[in-house]
Amino acid sequence: SWRPEDHITRIVEEIRERVREGQVIVAVSGGVDSTVTAVLVHKAVGSRAKAVFVDHGLFREGEPEKAVALLRSIGIDVIYVDAKGRFLEKLEGVADCEEKRRIVGETFAQIFTEVVSGIRDARYLAQGTLYPDVVESGAVKGADKIKSHHNVAGLPPWFKLELVEPLRDFYKDEVRKIAKALGLPDEVVYRQPFPGPGLAVRVVGPFTREKLAIVRKATKIVEEELARAGVLRKVWQAFAVVGDDKWVGVKGDRRAEGYVVTVRIVESEDAMTADWSRVPYEVLEKISSRITSEIPEVTMVTYAITSKPPSTIEPC
Ligand code: XMP
Repeated sequence: SWRPEDHITRIVEEIRERVREGQVIVAVSGGVDSTVTAVLVHKAVGSRAKAVFVDHGLFREGEPEKAVALLRSIGIDVIYVDAKGRFLEKLEGVADCEEKRRIVGETFAQIFTEVVSGIRDARYLAQGTLYPDVVESGAVKGADKIKSHHNVAGLPPWFKLELVEPLRDFYKDEVRKIAKALGLPDEVVYRQPFPGPGLAVRVVGPFTREKLAIVRKATKIVEEELARAGVLRKVWQAFAVVGDDKWVGVKGDRRAEGYVVTVRIVESEDAMTADWSRVPYEVLEKISSRITSEIPEVTMVTYAITSKPPSTIEPC
């Protein structure tokens, strides 16, 4: 049977074998994949592991702070880089989704390079790439390129660190078992997958800080209500999306145009296929009423009821 402990022992030995000298930089994002990667690398090489958290300003509320605090509590050295302004400036007004991904990937690589060049003897870069990321990026022979997941494709050739990807043979459920066996808190073990370019892919059409703020607040409400209903862990991903569609709403005795927010909640085993979640109406009702009352710019909430395929999980 599949025992996480055996894999942990093997992975740690493999990292230790390969990484005999120099520093290992771990790109962390708060997600289960990069957190597990950081812990495994730290187990293998101790203080030669350096976690780098680049805050692109596209995270969910409170995510960067919690991620950094957790890793530090484990004894891992973390360099936090506040790059919110740089990313958001470049994204402002950009409408094309692949262009957003390219900007985030490229800016990330630039900032990462700056940080790494300040770390003496940096030799390796550890990333939490999973098997499905590898497949969907077309890195596996014969697989079609569907979306350019920036954690695989975004590194320019001049980026000289050697890649360490200890999780590239694993699916998400296996990584969660490894995370649990490593003693990570449930909040991390069961954390939803979150795209590398973050909330940028959930702001459809021209990117604005206003739409970003709407998506961030709405996503928090979606997650809170699913947690309250006891279903957050049963779903694969649950989030909000905003574009430029408008709907006229009534606020008091005034009619005013507001944004349409789409709620996306899906169930999946590995993200290759996904089914929209049959969340109880009462939960959807609560999500809708909270979003329109707590985010006054929003006048309509819709629920996405198309599975993957033919749709994808993220809007773009
Ligand atoms: P789609 O939208 O293609 O998503 O059905 C499949 C899974 O991949 C995640 N995703 C991304 N992850 N960079 C990432 O690291 C990306 O650009 C990206 N786009 C989608 C998505 O959240 C889902 O879990």
